[in-house]
Amino acid sequence: MKRGVAVIVACLAAGTFWASSVRGEDSAKHEAAEKEPKSATANTGFYPNDMGPAEIDVSGYPKEMRQNYRVFAFKCAACHTIARPINSQFLELTPEEQAAAKKEDPDLFKDSKLVMPEDKIWSRYVKRMMAKPGCPVGKDGKIIYEFLTYDSKLRKTGANAKAWREHRAHLIHEFKEKYPDSYKTVFPDASK
Ligand code: HEC
Repeated sequence: MKRGVAVIVACLAAGTFWASSVRGEDSAKHEAAEKEPKSATANTGFYPNDMGPAEIDVSGYPKEMRQNYRVFAFKCAACHTIARPINSQFLELTPEEQAAAKKEDPDLFKDSKLVMPEDKIWSRYVKRMMAKPGCPVGKDGKIIYEFLTYDSKLRKTGANAKAWREHRAHLIHEFKEKYPDSYKTVFPDASK
Protein backbone atom coordinates (compact mmCIF):
# COMPACT_ATOMS: atom_id res chain seq x y z
CA MET A 1 0.00 0.00 0.00
CA LYS A 2 2.82 2.34 0.92
CA ARG A 3 4.16 2.07 -2.57
CA GLY A 4 0.77 2.82 -4.15
CA VAL A 5 0.37 5.98 -2.14
CA ALA A 6 3.91 7.10 -2.87
CA VAL A 7 3.39 6.63 -6.59
CA ILE A 8 0.30 8.81 -6.50
CA VAL A 9 2.58 11.52 -5.14
CA ALA A 10 5.01 11.01 -8.00
CA CYS A 11 2.20 10.92 -10.53
CA LEU A 12 0.57 14.11 -9.34
CA ALA A 13 3.70 16.03 -8.49
CA ALA A 14 3.52 18.11 -11.67
CA GLY A 15 -0.13 19.08 -11.33
CA THR A 16 -2.55 20.54 -8.87
CA PHE A 17 -5.68 18.70 -9.97
CA TRP A 18 -6.89 16.10 -7.48
CA ALA A 19 -3.68 16.49 -5.55
CA SER A 20 -5.28 17.46 -2.27
CA SER A 21 -5.51 13.91 -0.94
CA VAL A 22 -1.79 13.32 -1.25
CA ARG A 23 -0.39 16.64 -0.01
CA GLY A 24 0.38 15.20 3.42
CA GLU A 25 2.85 12.56 2.26
CA ASP A 26 6.39 13.00 3.52
CA SER A 27 9.40 13.11 1.25
CA ALA A 28 10.91 9.91 2.73
CA LYS A 29 8.09 7.93 1.21
CA HIS A 30 8.53 9.80 -2.05
CA GLU A 31 12.22 8.88 -2.19
CA ALA A 32 11.47 5.25 -1.38
CA ALA A 33 9.11 5.16 -4.36
CA GLU A 34 11.73 6.52 -6.71
CA LYS A 35 14.08 3.66 -5.88
CA GLU A 36 11.50 1.09 -6.91
CA PRO A 37 11.14 0.05 -10.54
CA LYS A 38 8.97 2.56 -12.38
CA SER A 39 6.71 0.19 -14.20
CA ALA A 40 4.68 -2.64 -12.73
CA THR A 41 2.29 -2.83 -15.62
CA ALA A 42 2.76 -6.37 -16.89
CA ASN A 43 -0.54 -7.65 -15.61
CA THR A 44 -3.28 -5.39 -16.89
CA GLY A 45 -5.91 -8.11 -17.29
CA PHE A 46 -8.07 -8.48 -20.37
CA TYR A 47 -11.45 -6.93 -21.11
CA PRO A 48 -14.06 -7.16 -23.88
CA ASN A 49 -13.24 -3.48 -24.40
CA ASP A 50 -9.79 -4.48 -25.65
CA MET A 51 -11.31 -6.28 -28.65
CA GLY A 52 -12.93 -3.12 -30.04
CA PRO A 53 -11.48 -0.22 -32.04
CA ALA A 54 -8.56 1.70 -30.53
CA GLU A 55 -9.50 5.07 -31.98
CA ILE A 56 -12.40 7.50 -32.17
CA ASP A 57 -13.29 9.64 -35.16
CA VAL A 58 -13.24 13.03 -33.44
CA SER A 59 -13.36 15.10 -36.65
CA GLY A 60 -16.83 16.39 -35.72
CA TYR A 61 -15.89 17.21 -32.10
CA PRO A 62 -15.28 20.80 -30.92
CA LYS A 63 -11.66 21.96 -31.27
CA GLU A 64 -10.91 21.73 -27.55
CA MET A 65 -12.17 18.15 -27.41
CA ARG A 66 -10.09 17.23 -30.44
CA GLN A 67 -7.02 18.49 -28.59
CA ASN A 68 -8.01 16.68 -25.41
CA TYR A 69 -8.46 13.50 -27.41
CA ARG A 70 -4.84 13.63 -28.52
CA VAL A 71 -3.64 13.93 -24.92
CA PHE A 72 -5.91 11.08 -23.86
CA ALA A 73 -4.81 8.86 -26.76
CA PHE A 74 -1.16 9.38 -25.88
CA LYS A 75 -1.26 9.17 -22.09
CA CYS A 76 -3.82 6.43 -21.58
CA ALA A 77 -1.99 4.07 -23.93
CA ALA A 78 0.91 3.49 -21.55
CA CYS A 79 -0.32 0.19 -20.05
CA HIS A 80 -3.21 -1.02 -22.24
CA THR A 81 -4.42 0.31 -25.59
CA ILE A 82 -7.00 3.07 -25.58
CA ALA A 83 -9.49 0.49 -26.82
CA ARG A 84 -10.05 -0.18 -23.13
CA PRO A 85 -11.52 3.23 -22.24
CA ILE A 86 -13.00 3.76 -25.75
CA ASN A 87 -15.15 0.61 -25.61
CA SER A 88 -15.96 0.88 -21.93
CA GLN A 89 -19.50 0.71 -20.56
CA PHE A 90 -18.82 3.77 -18.37
CA LEU A 91 -21.09 6.75 -18.94
CA GLU A 92 -20.76 9.71 -16.64
CA LEU A 93 -24.13 11.38 -15.92
CA THR A 94 -25.01 13.64 -13.00
CA PRO A 95 -28.06 12.60 -10.95
CA GLU A 96 -30.11 15.23 -12.86
CA GLU A 97 -28.91 13.89 -16.21
CA GLN A 98 -29.75 10.36 -15.08
CA ALA A 99 -33.29 11.37 -14.15
CA ALA A 100 -33.78 12.94 -17.59
CA ALA A 101 -32.21 9.95 -19.34
CA LYS A 102 -34.50 7.51 -17.50
CA LYS A 103 -37.51 9.22 -19.03
CA GLU A 104 -36.05 9.48 -22.49
CA ASP A 105 -34.43 6.05 -22.80
CA PRO A 106 -35.13 3.60 -19.94
CA ASP A 107 -33.14 0.89 -21.77
CA LEU A 108 -29.99 2.83 -20.96
CA PHE A 109 -30.27 1.47 -17.41
CA LYS A 110 -31.17 -2.11 -18.23
CA ASP A 111 -27.81 -3.84 -18.46
CA SER A 112 -24.74 -2.37 -16.78
CA LYS A 113 -22.49 -4.61 -18.88
CA LEU A 114 -23.57 -2.56 -21.92
CA VAL A 115 -23.83 0.88 -20.36
CA MET A 116 -23.07 1.90 -16.81
CA PRO A 117 -24.53 5.37 -16.22
CA GLU A 118 -23.12 6.72 -12.98
CA ASP A 119 -22.32 10.02 -11.35
CA LYS A 120 -18.56 10.78 -11.37
CA ILE A 121 -17.64 7.41 -12.84
CA TRP A 122 -14.93 8.75 -15.15
CA SER A 123 -13.55 10.94 -12.44
CA ARG A 124 -13.15 7.88 -10.21
CA TYR A 125 -11.54 5.77 -12.93
CA VAL A 126 -9.10 8.41 -14.12
CA LYS A 127 -7.98 8.82 -10.50
CA ARG A 128 -7.72 5.06 -10.16
CA MET A 129 -5.47 4.90 -13.23
CA MET A 130 -3.41 7.81 -11.93
CA ALA A 131 -2.74 5.84 -8.75
CA LYS A 132 -1.09 3.00 -10.65
CA PRO A 133 2.69 2.54 -10.71
CA GLY A 134 4.23 4.10 -13.83
CA CYS A 135 1.20 6.25 -14.61
CA PRO A 136 2.22 9.10 -16.95
CA VAL A 137 -1.05 11.04 -16.76
CA GLY A 138 0.01 13.70 -14.23
CA LYS A 139 -1.48 17.16 -14.74
CA ASP A 140 -3.45 15.99 -17.79
CA GLY A 141 -5.93 14.03 -15.64
CA LYS A 142 -8.45 16.86 -15.74
CA ILE A 143 -8.64 17.28 -19.52
CA ILE A 144 -8.67 13.51 -20.06
CA TYR A 145 -11.55 13.28 -17.64
CA GLU A 146 -13.38 16.09 -19.47
CA PHE A 147 -12.87 14.34 -22.78
CA LEU A 148 -14.14 10.98 -21.53
CA THR A 149 -17.24 12.54 -19.98
CA TYR A 150 -18.09 14.48 -23.15
CA ASP A 151 -17.34 11.59 -25.46
CA SER A 152 -19.22 8.96 -23.46
CA LYS A 153 -22.41 11.05 -23.57
CA LEU A 154 -22.06 11.59 -27.28
CA ARG A 155 -21.39 7.98 -28.26
CA LYS A 156 -23.55 6.13 -25.71
CA THR A 157 -26.76 8.18 -25.46
CA GLY A 158 -29.33 9.90 -27.67
CA ALA A 159 -29.16 9.11 -31.37
CA ASN A 160 -26.18 6.78 -30.86
CA ALA A 161 -27.57 4.86 -27.88
CA LYS A 162 -28.84 1.84 -29.77
CA ALA A 163 -25.78 1.45 -31.99
CA TRP A 164 -23.57 1.67 -28.91
CA ARG A 165 -25.42 -1.08 -27.05
CA GLU A 166 -25.24 -3.33 -30.09
CA HIS A 167 -21.52 -2.68 -30.42
CA ARG A 168 -20.88 -3.45 -26.77
CA ALA A 169 -23.15 -6.55 -26.80
CA HIS A 170 -21.19 -7.86 -29.75
CA LEU A 171 -17.85 -7.35 -27.98
CA ILE A 172 -19.11 -9.10 -24.86
CA HIS A 173 -20.47 -12.00 -26.88
CA GLU A 174 -17.12 -12.49 -28.68
CA PHE A 175 -15.24 -12.16 -25.42
CA LYS A 176 -17.37 -14.76 -23.66
CA GLU A 177 -17.00 -17.22 -26.55
CA LYS A 178 -13.25 -16.86 -26.93
CA TYR A 179 -12.17 -16.19 -23.36
CA PRO A 180 -14.69 -17.76 -20.97
CA ASP A 181 -12.31 -17.58 -18.01
CA SER A 182 -11.59 -13.87 -18.52
CA TYR A 183 -15.33 -13.32 -18.91
CA LYS A 184 -15.89 -14.74 -15.42
CA THR A 185 -13.16 -12.54 -14.01
CA VAL A 186 -14.52 -9.34 -15.56
CA PHE A 187 -18.19 -10.12 -14.86
CA PRO A 188 -18.25 -12.27 -11.70
CA ASP A 189 -21.92 -11.44 -11.06
CA ALA A 190 -23.20 -12.06 -14.56
CA SER A 191 -25.71 -14.91 -14.65
CA LYS A 192 -25.68 -15.22 -18.43
C1 HEC B 1 0.03 2.57 -15.19
C2 HEC B 1 -0.72 1.72 -16.07
C3 HEC B 1 -2.06 2.26 -16.58
C4 HEC B 1 -2.29 3.48 -17.16
C5 HEC B 1 -1.32 4.59 -17.47
C6 HEC B 1 -3.71 3.51 -17.47
N1 HEC B 1 -4.30 2.33 -17.09
FE1 HEC B 1 -6.26 1.85 -17.31
N2 HEC B 1 -5.91 0.03 -16.44
C7 HEC B 1 -4.70 -0.40 -15.93
C8 HEC B 1 -4.89 -1.67 -15.26
C9 HEC B 1 -3.80 -2.47 -14.55
C10 HEC B 1 -6.25 -2.01 -15.40
C11 HEC B 1 -6.95 -3.27 -14.84
C12 HEC B 1 -8.05 -2.96 -13.87
C13 HEC B 1 -7.68 -2.09 -12.72
O1 HEC B 1 -6.66 -2.33 -12.07
O2 HEC B 1 -8.38 -1.10 -12.49
C14 HEC B 1 -6.86 -0.93 -16.16
C15 HEC B 1 -8.19 -0.89 -16.52
C16 HEC B 1 -8.82 0.16 -17.17
C17 HEC B 1 -10.23 0.22 -17.52
C18 HEC B 1 -11.25 -0.90 -17.30
C19 HEC B 1 -11.88 -0.76 -15.95
C20 HEC B 1 -13.07 -1.66 -15.75
O3 HEC B 1 -13.21 -2.17 -14.64
O4 HEC B 1 -13.88 -1.84 -16.67
C21 HEC B 1 -10.44 1.44 -18.07
C22 HEC B 1 -11.77 1.97 -18.59
C23 HEC B 1 -9.19 2.16 -18.07
N3 HEC B 1 -8.22 1.34 -17.53
C24 HEC B 1 -9.04 3.45 -18.51
C25 HEC B 1 -7.83 4.15 -18.48
C26 HEC B 1 -7.72 5.56 -18.81
C27 HEC B 1 -8.86 6.47 -19.22
C28 HEC B 1 -6.39 5.88 -18.67
C29 HEC B 1 -5.74 7.25 -18.83
C30 HEC B 1 -6.22 8.24 -17.87
C31 HEC B 1 -5.70 4.67 -18.22
N4 HEC B 1 -6.61 3.66 -18.12
C32 HEC B 1 -4.34 4.61 -18.00
C33 HEC B 1 -3.51 0.26 -16.05
C34 HEC B 1 -3.32 1.54 -16.53
